[in-house]
Amino acid sequence: LRQKFLQQISDAGDEAALEAVRVAAVGKKGEVSLKMRELGKMTPEERQTAGPALNALKNEINSALAAAKAALADAALEERLKSEWLDVTLAPRPARTGTIHPVSQVTEEVIAIFADLGFAVAEGPQIETDWYNFDALNIPPEHPARQEHDTFYMHRDAGDNRPPNVLRTHTSPVQIRYLQEHGAPCRIIAPGRVYRADYDQTHTPMFHQFEGLAIDRDISMANLKWVLEEFCRAFFEVDEVELRFRASHFPFTEPSAEVDIRCSWDKGQLKIGEGDDWMEILGSGMVHPKVLEAAGVDPSAYQGFAFGVGIDRIAMLKYGIPDLRAFFDSDLRWLRNYGFAA
Ligand code: PHE
Repeated sequence: LRQKFLQQISDAGDEAALEAVRVAAVGKKGEVSLKMRELGKMTPEERQTAGPALNALKNEINSALAAAKAALADAALEERLKSEWLDVTLAPRPARTGTIHPVSQVTEEVIAIFADLGFAVAEGPQIETDWYNFDALNIPPEHPARQEHDTFYMHRDAGDNRPPNVLRTHTSPVQIRYLQEHGAPCRIIAPGRVYRADYDQTHTPMFHQFEGLAIDRDISMANLKWVLEEFCRAFFEVDEVELRFRASHFPFTEPSAEVDIRCSWDKGQLKIGEGDDWMEILGSGMVHPKVLEAAGVDPSAYQGFAFGVGIDRIAMLKYGIPDLRAFFDSDLRWLRNYGFAA
């Protein structure tokens, strides 16, 4: 009996076969169990030898079953380890992480530089009313500047005779909105998207500007010049810059100046702060009294300067990027080439 069951246990290939052996041997109606039940009919002498022998057999079978079961589990684990094997020495593929777009990066830089100069950040809507984008900035309906802006107009339903809303053509309407809400004095920059129907190497229909506005009782153009110089030195990371104020005209400033920065072109490489060339970088001026009035500020008490800078434009200058359109092509190869993406 012992021989038979131990043999069956060692032959069992899986848990089901082991269980069958267990039932046949030490189950309720198993052979060993039946033999033990017969102990009662034996004489005490017979029982004295048969009893311990059967008990020993039962124990031996049970431990053989347990050992066989453990061996099966070990084998199964071994099998899994083989099939789920992982080569941790294999070089990992580099993880691609997103990066900040150069325009966003430059915008953040500009905000940080002006924060040091005490300028807060303001924002306005990209869909603007005709009044905020033009009239309040001293550009009445028949003013030629309206044509120069290549404005995108929003559609109005037939019978609605209000002037159409526009995609703002510059960040200057934020001057009006901010002063209306907060009054003077004020010191802000207003970065954001602006729109003009124009497309070539240096123009895209959507681009970015930041407006600067400082209004107080005795702000002058000298303050404007100092602020712009400080900004340019920080932004272009040069010790000295030279700015040239060229008389110009904007309806919303008087006097108005376009500002050029001294630079040099050496084999297509732009250097800021030295050389014999001048590069236009922004428009500026003293805020026109009519603009202050439109914004609810008393022009006999307050005055100040405003300027408007093309963010994409100064980003192109800083990073030596020749084509503005590439900023908005979402081409990773281009971003990587300029070190803007991993
Ligand atoms: N709004 C002008 C433009 O978009 C720039 C500007 C802003 C000029 C503020 C003067 C003062 O061209």
